[in-house]
Amino acid sequence: MATVLSVSGSPSASSRTSRLLRHLDQRLASQGHDVIPLDVRTIPAEALLGADFRHPAIVEATELFARADGVVVGTPVYKASYSGVLKALLDLLPQYALAGKTVLPLATGGSVAHVLAIDYALRPVLTSMGAAHIVQGWFTLDKDLAVQDDGTLAVAPAATEALGQVVDQFSAALGRTPLLAVAG
Ligand SMILES: Cc1cc2nc3c(=O)[nH]c(=O)nc-3n(C[C@H](O)[C@H](O)[C@H](O)COP(=O)(O)O)c2cc1C
Repeated sequence: MATVLSVSGSPSASSRTSRLLRHLDQRLASQGHDVIPLDVRTIPAEALLGADFRHPAIVEATELFARADGVVVGTPVYKASYSGVLKALLDLLPQYALAGKTVLPLATGGSVAHVLAIDYALRPVLTSMGAAHIVQGWFTLDKDLAVQDDGTLAVAPAATEALGQVVDQFSAALGRTPLLAVAG
């Protein structure tokens, strides 16, 4: 099956976004995919903020993107857009780091007023990085994601159904990504 890089772009140590991605990783793994988690917050700040392209953590992240057939990109909505730490990482990747890859964009946020942030903010940059196929994304309200005492995540039923659908669409699309020849 496919290799999937699952990237959480939250800077928060108690991130709902990260927990949501790790929760969804299990569904992808159960479908036979090899899932590699990456929390951008674990990349040293001096590498991200100093634009240190040669830092081992940036080199490693770049290699993880290169190896992946598919990428899940999850972000909290901050100021009606994707997070700054996610932007900091994307800025350090090659221009066409997503060439030939299938991408699932996900966001969590506090207000449905910003449900379109996935499509007006995140999707354009994913497109500009050469993504072969960006499947239907999903915005999950933070109130629908409850962190339990044991640290696990409880997802509200309505969100569970929608998230299951977009993950399954992504999973199915992984097997039929068109190959794009993109220089860069
Ligand atoms: C600095 C900051 C800015 C935020 N801005 C927005 C916003 O513009 N729109 C929105 O819907 N939610 C906003 N939120 C709420 C977060 O997107 C939401 O709580 C999200 O689930 C947090 O994810 P995390 O726990 O992974 O960091 C903001 C939260 C913070 C801390």
